[in-house]
Amino acid sequence: MAFTVGILGGGQLARMLALAGAPLGLRFLVMDSVADACAGQVAPLLQADYRDQAALEEFAARVDVATFDFENVPAASAEWLAARVPVYPNPRALAVSQDRLEEKNLFRKLGLATPDFAVVDSLQDLERAVADIGLPAILKTRRLGYDGKGQFRLREAGDVEAAWAELGGVALILERFVAFERELSVLGVRSSTGQFASYPLVENWHASGILSASLAPAAVSAGLAEAALEAARTLAAALDYVGVFALELFLVEGRLMANEMAPRVHNSGHWTIEGADTSQFENHLRAVLGAPLGSTAPRGKSAMLNWVGHLPARDVALGEPAAHWHDYGKSPRAGRKVGHLTLCADSETLLAEALLRTGAALDRADQVASVIAVLGTTH
Ligand SMILES: Nc1ncnc2c1ncn2[C@@H]1O[C@H](COP(=O)(O)OP(=O)(O)O)[C@@H](O)[C@H]1O
Ligand SMILES: [Mg+2]
Repeated sequence: MAFTVGILGGGQLARMLALAGAPLGLRFLVMDSVADACAGQVAPLLQADYRDQAALEEFAARVDVATFDFENVPAASAEWLAARVPVYPNPRALAVSQDRLEEKNLFRKLGLATPDFAVVDSLQDLERAVADIGLPAILKTRRLGYDGKGQFRLREAGDVEAAWAELGGVALILERFVAFERELSVLGVRSSTGQFASYPLVENWHASGILSASLAPAAVSAGLAEAALEAARTLAAALDYVGVFALELFLVEGRLMANEMAPRVHNSGHWTIEGADTSQFENHLRAVLGAPLGSTAPRGKSAMLNWVGHLPARDVALGEPAAHWHDYGKSPRAGRKVGHLTLCADSETLLAEALLRTGAALDRADQVASVIAVLGTTH
């Protein structure tokens, strides 16, 4: 019988996992509550809620191992499954990364700096936290936030009431807004045999809280790259983590601060499909299988541009020889990630030229500008 990987969540990450797993001889079963989940176009889909007991039983019976494209699968469902099939990453790692407070407490325990933060469960807590931490600050829901959702930025004391009106009622955390110089991420991968590897540091740019562009390898000093790798290795070991994960970092006054971790393959690793020896998707599967990990070495320089809301003209983009197109098969919707493009080049100069051409051809000059600006510099 063919080996079947079950994936909880059927979005573009599950879709790219299934595409990467086919050459390894793997079969997939994707579970998602949405009938037109885009991974369903490339793998069998079990349409059900993650709490549906009968569906979980069917899922467990049909898969040899389970993993996630979505970290907010209820902890109880992940634990129920883990009692029946291997589940990677393990439910505890999932639970820690589902809660911004637990996540930040773990970072600090491991010696990773974070922005100052305070727990907020009431309006009084929020007032006290603002007084302690200072402004500007960001109020975030502890759970279920993504792509900048579940966040309120406070600039002045008068914003407290509005922030509470918008987010109050669930468990919250207030964070000091750090004036970072760069946003970076490191993708780590640890296999069920304990083997660890990490990809080169990536620099990321967000627009409206959503990833807009990534550059890999980031133009940072060797010392920073080493510090990020060590942070990822420490975190993976502490969580007995299996699979790929991303650690999002801020560079503040030359030092790294941890923002959050994602317990799964990550948007800032999409460049690895064409830009690294082994993609994050293939390495996630290798890790879950306990197979040897593939080389994470970059092939030249890569830039990834996210398509949010709707896709630009595909055939115009394909006119660029350095371009690799990814259409997730999703219908257009404001704020939704519907695809991405990766440009690969042998040098920063050639990458900058490809970015300039692509930005002009697709009318995305703004999106490519920040990436072009850092090419040829080292921070
Ligand atoms: N403490 C902070 N200081 C400055 N910018 C922040 C802070 N927290 C978040 N941001 C900005 O908002 C973006 C989204 O926040 P993040 O905590 O990563 O949530 P999400 O789960 O939505 O990715 C970050 O990538 C960063 O650009
Ligand atoms: Mg984030």
